[in-house]
Amino acid sequence: MNNWNPSSWRNFPIKQQPTYTDIEKLHKVENELKSYPPLIFAGEALNLKKDLAKVVRGDAFLLQGGDCAESFAAFNANNIKDLFKVMMQMAVILTFSGGCPVVKVGRVAGQFAKPRSADFEEINGVSFPSYRGDIINDIDFDEKARNPKAKKLLKAYNQSASTLNLLRAFSRGGMADLNQLHLWNLDFVKDNALGVKYEEMANQISQTLQFMKACGITSENTPQISQTTLYTSHEALLLNYEEALTRRDSITGDWFDCSAHMLWIGDRTRELDGAHIEYFRGIKNPIGCKVGPSMKEDELIKLIDALNPLNEAGRLNLIVRMGASKVGDIFPNLLKKVKAEGRNVLWSCDPMHGNTIKADNGYKTRDFDAILSEVKQFFQIHKSEGTYAGGIHLEMTGQNVTECTGSCSSAVTQESLSSRYHTQCDPRLNADQALELAFMIADTLKEARANQ
Ligand code: PEP
Ligand code: CO
Repeated sequence: MNNWNPSSWRNFPIKQQPTYTDIEKLHKVENELKSYPPLIFAGEALNLKKDLAKVVRGDAFLLQGGDCAESFAAFNANNIKDLFKVMMQMAVILTFSGGCPVVKVGRVAGQFAKPRSADFEEINGVSFPSYRGDIINDIDFDEKARNPKAKKLLKAYNQSASTLNLLRAFSRGGMADLNQLHLWNLDFVKDNALGVKYEEMANQISQTLQFMKACGITSENTPQISQTTLYTSHEALLLNYEEALTRRDSITGDWFDCSAHMLWIGDRTRELDGAHIEYFRGIKNPIGCKVGPSMKEDELIKLIDALNPLNEAGRLNLIVRMGASKVGDIFPNLLKKVKAEGRNVLWSCDPMHGNTIKADNGYKTRDFDAILSEVKQFFQIHKSEGTYAGGIHLEMTGQNVTECTGSCSSAVTQESLSSRYHTQCDPRLNADQALELAFMIADTLKEARANQ
């Protein structure tokens, strides 16, 4: 790899970064992080790459989801467990109703750094640096809180390690057992229409499992029934943190970012000659890049070639986030171009970030109908081009929050947003809304696969 090393990004222009005042402290923290164990092992990242290559071939579907921003304050076992459960529910819906294996990737165990639309936030004539995620500064609106503190990188690492530890325990220790699928239904979902629909499907699966057991196929002799893999991912925005966790794999000799299995580049930091592209081109993890409405066709091809010069299937996930009103105009030409140029990419749909609006009462929200509309158009465009809509990328939580409006099951209105609005950053789908979306996608997926 020409002239690349884990710190070569420092020679390139970089956007969306904090200004640390205590540089000595920052270096001390970076060195400490460099001495810590990696959070993932290179072999796991390569397994995910193989799984994503199956998605590119049309043999699986990618479900990626979690908080917009994880927070230090909301760090507890229940939040992690409820996200795990709702991801399992969505995956089982997509697998059973959509007839498609699902690759599960959480926006979790490291999703702490946020790009912001403005460097400063002003309230009533007072202005402080914007909140940039718990790895950088604090959300409270005062000077001390908004001052970036290097030691927060260590706390983010420690929280990520504990989160990943619990997710690994759930995945292998019994929580993912298909015989437990009734227990994944969260209490507040159980009695509403979606909960009931899920229970009906769960009963059918239970019957199937009984039948398989009678044939001798049980969780004791078939680990796929009782275990799963939930991979981790985050936006690799704060490259000081990512560099410190970049390690050379002793087996392949290649460099991996060992802070998560998959990393992605945000829509605001994807310029071709910028620091983020430089960093990403040298790591061998599977990676993603957000593709927003300003992307041009030629620019996209150059970006693909910089990030995936070997045209490897499973290496690069393009995460399309145009907004329901723009996707139909902008996405088809980009898709046509990539198809015509024969580039192997995994296309997924982020129906969240192009659909953020401000409610009359000031809350940042997203309407379920707009989210649904962008997803439907995304599938439709792929159908017209004969390409494969490979995945979905969501901001969601297992909690019963009121952050996005609409959906048939959860009657969140603009007026009721304030009742349980807990997000650190962007509005997330609650468990009801996430399940409704999963059922809708399962139907679409089934149809798309039948026509393949
Ligand atoms: C995000 O995924 O939280 C995000 C900031 O997205 P984007 O880069 O697409 O705006
Ligand atoms: Co977000």
